[in-house]
Amino acid sequence: MIDTDFIRSQFPAFSDPSLQGWAFFENAGGSYTCSQVIDRLTQYYLKTKVQPYAPYPAAQSAGDQMDETYVRLAEYLNVQTQEVHIGPSTSQNTYVLAQAFRQLWQEGDEIIVTNQDHEANSGVWRKLTDTGIVVKQWQVNPITGELNPDDLTALFTDRTRLLSFPHCSNIVAHINPVADICKLAGDAGVVTVVDGVSYAGHGFSDVQALGCDVYLFSLYKTFGPHQGLMVVRDSVREQLPNQSHYFNNDEPRKRLVPAGPDHAQVAAAAGIADYFDTVHQHHFPKVEATSVARRENIHQLMRQHEIELLQPLLDFLQNLNNVRVIGPTDATVRAPTVALDVGPDSQAWAREMANGKVMCSSGHFYSKRLIESLGLSAESGVLRFSFVHYTTEDEVQQLMDVLGTIAKRAA
Ligand SMILES: Cc1ncc(COP(=O)(O)O)c(C=O)c1O
Repeated sequence: MIDTDFIRSQFPAFSDPSLQGWAFFENAGGSYTCSQVIDRLTQYYLKTKVQPYAPYPAAQSAGDQMDETYVRLAEYLNVQTQEVHIGPSTSQNTYVLAQAFRQLWQEGDEIIVTNQDHEANSGVWRKLTDTGIVVKQWQVNPITGELNPDDLTALFTDRTRLLSFPHCSNIVAHINPVADICKLAGDAGVVTVVDGVSYAGHGFSDVQALGCDVYLFSLYKTFGPHQGLMVVRDSVREQLPNQSHYFNNDEPRKRLVPAGPDHAQVAAAAGIADYFDTVHQHHFPKVEATSVARRENIHQLMRQHEIELLQPLLDFLQNLNNVRVIGPTDATVRAPTVALDVGPDSQAWAREMANGKVMCSSGHFYSKRLIESLGLSAESGVLRFSFVHYTTEDEVQQLMDVLGTIAKRAA
């Protein structure tokens, strides 16, 4: 069982007086940052805020700290170090990828996108229609919001080059069977780009086992700094044309990140691995484990706690008047990101939640196409709560108490 007191002691936000009494349910927008990351960031700014890799000690240390991040996060994701790229955000990373992939394709080539995605893994691909690429849509079920892999294969032709889809939607939260989908695509010779942003905060995945070609997520939603990480498997990376300065062509880490890296934040991201190591050491003190096994242990620990908190919340929500849960009501098949259709006044509901010291918000959360395909108004959108492994039962109770009162009043 997870030791939430210990876990929360790793996050300074939980002991800051300004946040006392506030239940944080906006983790899908960005998680709190662990002290390991904050410490590394502070130390970098204090001691090594210089040009990394230059031939003097502070610069060597700066470069070493950055290198460490790539090595340790790659280990936790079970991929090669050179397959990890860190750019300013996932939206920027997908944009660069789309430009790079386009250079490989001919007019009339086809790609498949979904209407379940956040716009970051949708719009950049759809825009390629302007350059002669044919874009097809793998549609969600308009009632459940889920994607059905059985609908996918009919979209493949001998001109299909790429499929982009989410590991889990930031609204529907159903965990897509990524490995199965990637196998279907791989068998058809189609490259897969998976947006892992909404899932990664609930545990890192073994990206090799998922079988995708590209896996993206945002470190600021996984207890780290405001950067986007993408894994681009070697087989694909080697084909993609350089998107950086021409003289960076032979630099694997720079080819797909034209923005100069934010050195301090890249360095600080190794704190996520420190945090995972600390969590593992505390909960599995006797287990000597590889990073792959540690990742799996931590992932299960987090998921188990999340599911224990999520199922009673889903049960409560199903019995509440004036509220409809989007996505599955079985906690084991979804992430703890819960979007509710509360009608046209979702903003007012969010304000009232804040009056009850529950941090959450409303809107379409950049998944406008999905909201519309579910027959909802993009203007009012949904009321959304999201939590992670550091959330407590008491906080979920606080959410239910405040929401229950608002729902009764709205009746
Ligand atoms: C599911 C999902 N994908 C992509 C993104 C975009 O990430 P970034 O803010 O790093 O561009 C977000 C951001 O909220 C998201 O929730």
